[in-house]
This record gives sequence, structure tokens and C-alpha cells, in this order.
Amino acid sequence: MITLGIETSCDETSVAVLENESRIIVNLIATQIEAHQIFGGVVPEIASRKHLEMLNPLLETARLDAGLEWREIDLIAVTAAPGLVGSLLVGVAAAKALSFAHRIPCQPVNHLEGHIASNFLAQPDLEFPMLCLVVSGGHSELVLMRGFNQFERLGRTRDDAIGEAYDKVARALNLPMPGGPNLEKLAAQGDPYGFDFTVTHLADGFDFSYSGLKTAASQAKMKHPEKTADIAASFQRAAVSQLRGQVQKAIEKYKPATLGLCGGVAANSAVRAQMEAAANESGISFVVPPKVLCTDNAAMIAAAGYFRFRDLPTEQQKFDLSVLNFETKSLLPIGEIVS
Ligand SMILES: Nc1ncnc2c1ncn2[C@@H]1O[C@H](COP(=O)(O)OP(=O)(O)OP(=O)(O)O)[C@@H](O)[C@H]1O
Ligand SMILES: [Mg+2]
Repeated sequence: MITLGIETSCDETSVAVLENESRIIVNLIATQIEAHQIFGGVVPEIASRKHLEMLNPLLETARLDAGLEWREIDLIAVTAAPGLVGSLLVGVAAAKALSFAHRIPCQPVNHLEGHIASNFLAQPDLEFPMLCLVVSGGHSELVLMRGFNQFERLGRTRDDAIGEAYDKVARALNLPMPGGPNLEKLAAQGDPYGFDFTVTHLADGFDFSYSGLKTAASQAKMKHPEKTADIAASFQRAAVSQLRGQVQKAIEKYKPATLGLCGGVAANSAVRAQMEAAANESGISFVVPPKVLCTDNAAMIAAAGYFRFRDLPTEQQKFDLSVLNFETKSLLPIGEIVS
């Protein structure tokens, strides 16, 4: 089974070809970072225009690199939500057009299901129940999977996503985009206990909160402009300790067989180390994708689309014009997708 994946939800245009659930044949990623860098953040209008420029060449290159004719592609999987609406529309319109023209079934994919599916690209035989920590630019979510396509959201951020907090603190510290990786580099030179930052203690449930920490870090920069490395290291220590605490609590309550880590912030070494330690301490398996599959990419979207499509009743596993009527808003955020 060959799946073509398309991802255009934010500032990466990506096209991938996947064989079955986990063999990546091609995974092309065109980042737009240079176009947004001078603005200090992603500009939605520029993002959609860049996707328009990049998508068709990437689609053709991916297909040719994979050595495939259109008739050899069995499924088109496309990110349909959540994301920047103008950017999503570029990918969705392309997927619908290709699906219609070549009579290939089209599977809309929730972007967060895509991030979670990157764990299965890294290790296809993961054991359920699986606790997944999704940490990205727009989301911090703790999700319990009892099987394929079964997602139960245990917790989410009450304010900023952790990636957003990294990016905003990086900006306050005058670091260039991409904020998260640059803050991580600076943190390596600082004292994690240089500042006594704390995170909101959320005793009940499994939610996260970063707004207080973000403000504390920004204020520290105003008072001690020369101590940027200590601020970065102390911010990172506090932010990651909240992730560890909530994950540990969820492991104790739900006793999963596996802990999975995914999303752009899963590329962070401190986050990876702390989550691995949490899993080891509880004697459960730990999985995290290679860094290139943590940030946005179409291979993970192809995998998530494959899992959804595989679980459809056989009669629905065919090209169906009515499926092309989906709108980007029709996919609910994860957690509401409980099947
Ligand atoms: N090494 C790192 N340390 C900390 N943060 C990082 C690192 N690498 C990437 N990030 C952060 O990851 C985020 C990008 O991840 P991703 O591409 O998954 O987010 P997104 O797609 O914009 O958001 P979402 O997936 O929630 O829609 C950015 O906030 C970036 O700063
Ligand atoms: Mg993402």
C-alpha cells in the first residue's frame, strides 16, 4: 500500500511517500523559516503563498524520486486541521484535486494524530496502552491511546503551548528564529538554578501552564540583561519539570505499556532525557522519533492517514467523491476524536 502524504499546516511544506505503515520512501521538507525570520514569527499570509509556490514542485519531485506513476499510489493523506487556515487550504485543495483527477482515495488527517504517528514510524510494533506526550509549537497535550485510532485526551495546556513559550522567551532574549532550538543551545551554557523560576502547580488532572513562567523569564531579562544563558537554562529546567511531573502522574494512574514523545519540542535533548528517565523509572518502554520526524513532516501525516484508512470498513476504502466534501474545520481537535 503506497500513501502520498501532504503537510502544509504551518511553515513547512512537506510531501512524503510511505509504503505500508512505516517504510518511508521519500520525505521532502521545504522550510520557510528565512521568509519569516525578519518578522520574528510566522506570518500566515506569507506562509500560504510560500506553500503555493513549493507544493507542486515538491509533489512532482517526491513522485519521481519514489519512481512511481500516479496509478501506483493507493491513498492521499492530507493535514486538514489544526493549523493556519490559509496554509491548510493549499494542501487540502491540492489533495482534493489530485484525488479527483487520478481517482485515488483521500484521507483527511488531524495534524496531532500525525505527530503521534511519528512514534510508529520510529518503532512500528509499539505496545498499547500508550501514553503520548505531544509537545509542539501550538499544543502541549497528554493523550492516552488504547489502540490504533483511539485517542483520549488526558490533559492540555491552559494557556501557551510549550513550543510557543520557548519561542516567546527566545524572542525576549533577542535570539533569532527558530526560537526553541536556539534557546536550547543558549541554555547549555547557563546555570539551570541561576534563577528560581517555578511553574504553576496543577495538582488536579494532567493540564499544563506556561504563561507565568514565560512572564517570569521575560521580567528576569529586563532586570538582568547580561544573564541570558542562566535565564534560558532556568526556564528550560522549570518548563521540562512540569512535563515530567504530569507524565509521571499519568503513568502511575493509567499504567501504560509505552510512553511516546512527539512534536517539535521532542527534538529538545532535555525533554527527551527527562521523558526517557520517567519511562525507565516506571519500567515501561519509551519511544521518540528521530529529530527530523519530530518537527512537521508529511511522512507522519501519511502514517496517520494510513492507520485511519486501514480501519475504515472495506466498502469505504475506495475513491469516493463525497469524501472530498470535507472542510478543514470538520476535523475536531484531538481528544474530541474518540473512536
Ligand atoms: N530543540 C528544541 N527545543 C525546544 N523547542 C524546539 C526545539 N526544536 C523545535 N522546537 C519548537 O517546536 C515548535 C515547532 O514544532 P512543530 O513544527 O511540531 O509545531 P507546529 O506544527 O507549529 O505546531 P502544532 O504541531 O501544534 O500545530 C516550535 O515552537 C519550535 O521552537
Ligand atoms: Mg506540528
